[in-house]
Formats: sequence, C-alpha cells, structure tokens
Amino acid sequence: MATEPQQSTHEAKRGAFSSRKVFILAAIGSAVGLGNIWRFPYVAYDNGGGAFMIPYLVALLTAGIPFLFLDYAIGHRHRGSAPLSFARMSRPAEGIGWWQVGICFVIAVYYAAVIAWALRYTFFSVNEAWGDDPEGFFIGEFLQVSDPGVTADPVAGVLVPLLLIWVVVVGIMLAGVQKGVGMTSVIFIPILIIAFGALVVRSLFLPGAGAGLDALFTPDWGALTEATVWGAAFGQIFFSLSIGFGIMITYSSYVHRHTDMPSSGLVVGFANSGFELLAGIGVFAALGFMAQASGVGVDEVASSGVGLAFIGFPAIISEAPAGALIGVLFFASLVIAGLTSLVSILEVVISAVRDKFDLGRVAATAIVGVPAALLSLGLFSTTSGLHVLDIVDHFINQFGILLVAVVSMVVVSWGIRALPRLGRHLSEGSAITLGLWWRLLIGLVTPAALTYVLAQGFWTDVETPYEGYPTWMLAFFGWGSAALVMLLGYVLAPVPWRGGISLDDPGEPDPAEVRRGAPPGDAGAARSVHDDDEKGAVR
Ligand code: ALA
Repeated sequence: MATEPQQSTHEAKRGAFSSRKVFILAAIGSAVGLGNIWRFPYVAYDNGGGAFMIPYLVALLTAGIPFLFLDYAIGHRHRGSAPLSFARMSRPAEGIGWWQVGICFVIAVYYAAVIAWALRYTFFSVNEAWGDDPEGFFIGEFLQVSDPGVTADPVAGVLVPLLLIWVVVVGIMLAGVQKGVGMTSVIFIPILIIAFGALVVRSLFLPGAGAGLDALFTPDWGALTEATVWGAAFGQIFFSLSIGFGIMITYSSYVHRHTDMPSSGLVVGFANSGFELLAGIGVFAALGFMAQASGVGVDEVASSGVGLAFIGFPAIISEAPAGALIGVLFFASLVIAGLTSLVSILEVVISAVRDKFDLGRVAATAIVGVPAALLSLGLFSTTSGLHVLDIVDHFINQFGILLVAVVSMVVVSWGIRALPRLGRHLSEGSAITLGLWWRLLIGLVTPAALTYVLAQGFWTDVETPYEGYPTWMLAFFGWGSAALVMLLGYVLAPVPWRGGISLDDPGEPDPAEVRRGAPPGDAGAARSVHDDDEKGAVR
C-alpha cells in the first residue's frame, strides 16, 4: 500500500496537502464555483449555444489545460505563494504575483456577496418567498436596489448572511491548508455532486426540458466568426478553471514533490468542464419547462448571469412540481460550490502575506480577512451593491485575469525564458511530457489569441459604457479597480521579504536536479540561485 511522504520542515511551516487526492479535490473545489453554475449556462447560450462548444473546447485545450500546467509548474517547482514563486524565478517578476493577489482580494470581496444571496435563497425556496414576482422580489424587496450610484443605506437581508459567510470562511482559513482548505473540499465536493446530480436529473424530467436543451445545444454557426464569442470562451475558461490569478500556483506549492502534476491537471480540467456541461444541461432543462409553462420561447425566459440564478430559477421553482426541493438543491449547490472557491481565492492572499512578512496563519488570516470582510459588507450589503458588483466583476475579469495571464505568459516565456525548465520539472515522473507543443502554446499561440481578444474587449468598453452605467462609476469601480490591483505589484514588490526568498529547506531533492549534478539536499537552494537573478535570490 502506498504511504504518504514525510513532511519536510518547509512543508510543516507553510502547510501542505496530505495527499494527491486531497489536492485534486481542493483544486476541483476551487474550479467548480459560481462560474460553473450560473455563469456558464448563460454565457454558452448567449454566445452561439451549441456552436459555443467549439470555441469553449478550443480554449480549454489550447489555453486552459496548458495554462493550468504553467501555474502548477511555477508553484510546484518554486514552492511559494504567487509573489514568492515569481520572485524565486526572477526578482523583477515578483510584481506579477502581487497583481494576482490584488485580483483575488477584489474577487473575494464580491464573490462572498453572491454566496450570501444564494444562502438567503436556499431558505426563501422553502416557502417560495418571492410570491408571483421573482424579479420584483430580487431587485426590490431583497436587494432594495437604488438608482445607479453609491449609497450607504444598509440592507439587513444581505448584511446578516454575508457576515455569516465571512465568519465561516475565516474559520476555515484559520484551520490551515490541510484541515481547513483541503478538508472543506473533501467534505463538500461529494455533497455538491450528489445535490447537483439530483437537481439535473429532476430538471430533465420536467415537461419542456427538451426545448431547453435544444436552445442550449442548437448551434448558431455564424457565432464562430465573432471575436466576442471567442473572448467569452477564453474568459469563461480562465475564471472557471481558477487559472491565471494565483490560485493554482498557491495550491501546487502545497503538493509533495514527486507528485504526477500533469495527470492531476487533466483530472481537474475535465472534471470542471464536465460539471459545467452538467450545469448547462440542468439549468436549460429547467428553463425549457419554464418556457412551456408560460407559453413563450426559451430565449424569453433566459436572462443574464445574476438574473438567471436569482430571477429565473425562483420562477421555475414556483411552477415546477416539488419546486421547493429543486430550489433548495440549486441554491445549496451554489453556496457549497461558491464556498470551496472562495476559500481558494482567499488562500492566495493569505499565503502571500504569510510568505512576505514571515507571519503565522492566524496573524495573516486576520490581516487579510478582517479588511476583506469589512469592505465586502460595506460595499455589497447596501442598496447600491448590485451595481458595484456588476461593474467590478466585468472589469476585473477582462482587464485583471486575462491581462495578467497574457503578461505572465510573455514574461515567463520571453523575459525569464523559464519554459524549458518548468516543462522538464512538471514532466518528471509523468506519462505526459510538456515539450515543444506546450512551449509553443504558452509562448506564442495563447498570448497572441488572448491579446486579440483583450484588444477587442478594450475597444468595446471604451466605445460603449458597460451596461450604460455612469462614466464616473465605470472609471472608479471598473477601470479603477483593474488599475489599482496592477499598481499593487509596484508598491509591494520592493518591500523586503522578512524571511528572505531562498528555498532553504527544499525537502527531498528534485531527481532532475540531482541528475544534473546539484548536491542532494541542496536542489532547491541551488535552484533559487541558478534559475533566478542572483541579487534577487538573497533577501
Ligand atoms: N473557478 C471559480 C468559479 O468558477 C472561481 O467560480
């Protein structure tokens, strides 16, 4: 029987996943989130239905999986949070890691709010609290949405569950990498699969389900010629797989050496996309039922992201037999999927603060968790919360995640020229070899495709104010938040690392290093000087 590797003192200090299985579950827990359940079905529908599957699969295979391998390689080889791993590769690249940390902080602040709404709706489902007007209830009675602008008027119905979410998530973070982050997914992912599986099966038996599936899967081939459709596919893959914003770098730094990372990546990538398809099928089968019950087309009942979950689904719950059960399963699934992803998003920030300031977990969790919770409560439990959330979500995804992904690919490939050694590191002991095909995708094809997609998105947002919001709101919360997280790198990168950045306790030596002549037990230290600029490798 296989035994788990002994923990090195380095692992004991930072924390580590106890096994590959826990890591895979945690990575699936991070990937499967709000993005899969309410974002994917609508994005797919809005971007060509069945034809969206083509750009989606192309984006998954050419960008998603290869980029997942890049994140794994960076974190697993350099064994640090995102900024520490980048600093170990090359000191000037540290800012990219802080940029990713900033993105995670912003996402965590609004992501928690959507989980809080889902928590409330799990209970609303029991007695169908929205009556016969789900839209009026969501916008008016529940969120009490103001006109576009910023208000300080509190909404108690959001404040209380949001506070609860923050208390729970901070408690999980305090419990550490294995007992907190890892065990949350070990417990909740099987529950999520059962709850969501039951929901999909129930939805498929609703009258009209077939019409919903036709609407989702009937291809609109013309959509393939539109750049925005390809942009939507790349955006969905990056957000949904949790790649490009530090999560997978951080998680793979907690995985023992000699773990087959590429095979783990394939399991995570295909599990995430499988869940996404399942979500699409479940949600559209239910919408087909809704359309038939109301005597209208599916296109008239499918509304955008936030609306689809919190307006469309309650309408279905009211009409469908055993609607309360469908509602509880759906919203509880959203809460669980969201929580395991929120944990991973926060871990990026906490591990970076720990590494940089040489802090214990409790101190770092308090330093990150308290301001994040206060900001989240202050911004999103007010009557203007929905507007701010909508703007921040759009801009941080486009000009945060996708932009930092392009920059990191270009810097790692052409600036640091680290792809060959990262590929060798990840291929070691795996049946999958990251050779020329991988270097071509990460060094050339994917950054070129993403740059095109980003440029298109940039002009669209410059020419047309997003969703017609006032310019000052877009400038402050949209462009402003995207720019602020980018600047974070310049502010934090020059601050000295309290514990230094050299990997002085590398655990077991990397066999590839040993074969190339590094003395056993010194593989990591040799790496941090050899790979990186020497001045940066010392404090
Ligand atoms: N990957 C997470 C999601 O899909 C962030 O929601």
